[in-house]
Amino acid sequence: MYYSDEIIEKVRESNDILDVISSYVTLQRRGSTYFGLCPFHSEKTPSFSVTPSKQMYYCFGCHKGGNVISFLMDYENYTFQEALQALAARARIELPAQEESGEARKQSDLRKTILEVNNKAGKYFYHQLKTKRGENALAYLHRRGLDDETITRWGLGYSNPYRDDLYRAMKKEGYSDEVLAQTGLFHIDTRGAGDKFWNRVMFPIFDANSRVIGFGGRVMGDGEPKYLNSPETVVFDKGRNLYGLNIARKTRRDHLLLCEGYMDVISLHRAGFDNAVATLGTALTGGQANLLKRYTDRVVLTYDSDAAGIRAAQRAIPILRQAGISVKVLNMDPWKDPDEFIVHEGADAYEDRIEKAKNFFFFEMDVREREFDMSDPEQKTGFARALAGELVKFSEELERENYLQAACARYHISEEGLKKMMAGLGRASKITVEEDRAAREAERQANARRKADSGLKKSERLLLTWLVNVPSLYQKVKDVIRPEDFTDGVYEECAKALFAQLEAGKVEPAAILDRFMADEDDRQTAAEIFHTDPEGDMTLTARSKAFTDIVKNIRRNALDEAARTASPEEYQRILKEKKALEKLVITI
Ligand code: UTP
Ligand code: MN
Repeated sequence: MYYSDEIIEKVRESNDILDVISSYVTLQRRGSTYFGLCPFHSEKTPSFSVTPSKQMYYCFGCHKGGNVISFLMDYENYTFQEALQALAARARIELPAQEESGEARKQSDLRKTILEVNNKAGKYFYHQLKTKRGENALAYLHRRGLDDETITRWGLGYSNPYRDDLYRAMKKEGYSDEVLAQTGLFHIDTRGAGDKFWNRVMFPIFDANSRVIGFGGRVMGDGEPKYLNSPETVVFDKGRNLYGLNIARKTRRDHLLLCEGYMDVISLHRAGFDNAVATLGTALTGGQANLLKRYTDRVVLTYDSDAAGIRAAQRAIPILRQAGISVKVLNMDPWKDPDEFIVHEGADAYEDRIEKAKNFFFFEMDVREREFDMSDPEQKTGFARALAGELVKFSEELERENYLQAACARYHISEEGLKKMMAGLGRASKITVEEDRAAREAERQANARRKADSGLKKSERLLLTWLVNVPSLYQKVKDVIRPEDFTDGVYEECAKALFAQLEAGKVEPAAILDRFMADEDDRQTAAEIFHTDPEGDMTLTARSKAFTDIVKNIRRNALDEAARTASPEEYQRILKEKKALEKLVITI
């Protein structure tokens, strides 16, 4: 599907980037730029910037950048078309009927086709469950307490023990091997083709819009691996989806229950907790925390009660808090997971446990407490020290004070003594250590990047940066440099577009970024050119000299290139121009 440049531009211009991003990220103004915590990587101090005058965003930490369209592509996982449609709807712009063509169309067609195959595979598995061959699987699910209504609701199914029956069914429908290989449902290589899932109970995994994006398959009884999952595909991003969210997003409860397993989610929903979701066989990611945050700001963690579950909860807590979610942890004792708990104790008892769920801080401290023998004075002091170390991390004084009081009562520790310990630790020094580390890491990365693009490339990038920020300079370089003089593909493309805009007298970096929607790396490169401000602290003479050097460097290189294949007459002309070039002085 393909839209004209005019309509793309219209949609982009009708959606102010600050308005749009503000609805996802809390931003604070600093001069002409707004800053917030980056939604694309996890961080404690804001390095994500939005510049309304350029209609761009850029993260100084992870270097993601782009315009309002690419923001939705990154954040919502949309294709270019989907992002454009969402923005058009937001601005109440009617999109024209779509025309055909292009790489983008191919990509979105592929996504569509994979979703279609997934959907058909889901139906196929579901159907198999109801046949004679699926008897065992159906009995297995019944034995685990799932009735037919639940099975239908979650679209559960069964994959036959035949090596390629699903493959053959899909071939019959006319899908090519090339497409089928990309669904993750098959092994296809030179020796032949077969199904990935054999003799397993199948759990389709839905995205928030109820499209089947992948599968989990469980062995019946013992066997390794217990669950086999679809690999990541162009439609299946395990770090940006949650099992059960398609239903839980509509819950009327004011919190979401986050658990570890597919079966936990199904059991909980069946018991009336329609707010349960689970990760997809991997540890919780920042992307998932942000996704949760779109639906709630309260999460009750209900991870397994074994050591692995506790560790997973400890890792999930900071990720959720980072996303601005308040976290409580449910105690499932003496059962291992929500499924077991519900089977043995029922919904009311679980409701009670939600009520009694522990604030994340006390969950963490209770875990720590078990490492100490609290009847031994020395060890108890050790625990108090650990507690003080955690309390000083609360940056808000009132919050810190509240936790301090509650902790002292809970662990029978004197408030005064603990306060003294905290004073000794010194909050400020602690935070700077952390921030320091982050800053050093950022600097290391910046240095590495600086090194990588030395010389000519740097000149090319700087020239573009200058022209975006000081468009009047264009008059002074247009007769010296042409876009073809740029050696780097992305820079050349940017130069073409920017020179055209400068000719037309309207500089719009966000519009240039539209050209780079198909390739994220290229988009980041382009975004970096346009967001930067040229060296602002130089004197005017130094700036003029720097700018002149940049222009000379690029043109000299282009002339040298041309000289290598030039005819004798051309060569003379090039020599002349080179001589003239060396005398060039541009004043700013
Ligand atoms: P569990 O082993 O706790 O399974 O793994 P469960 O959800 O309680 O399932 P039942 O009750 O034994 O059937 C929790 C989750 O971890 C992932 C799956 O997403 C599972 O739901 N997992 C587990 C895998 O991806 N692969 C495995 O081999 C095991
Ligand atoms: Mn279980």
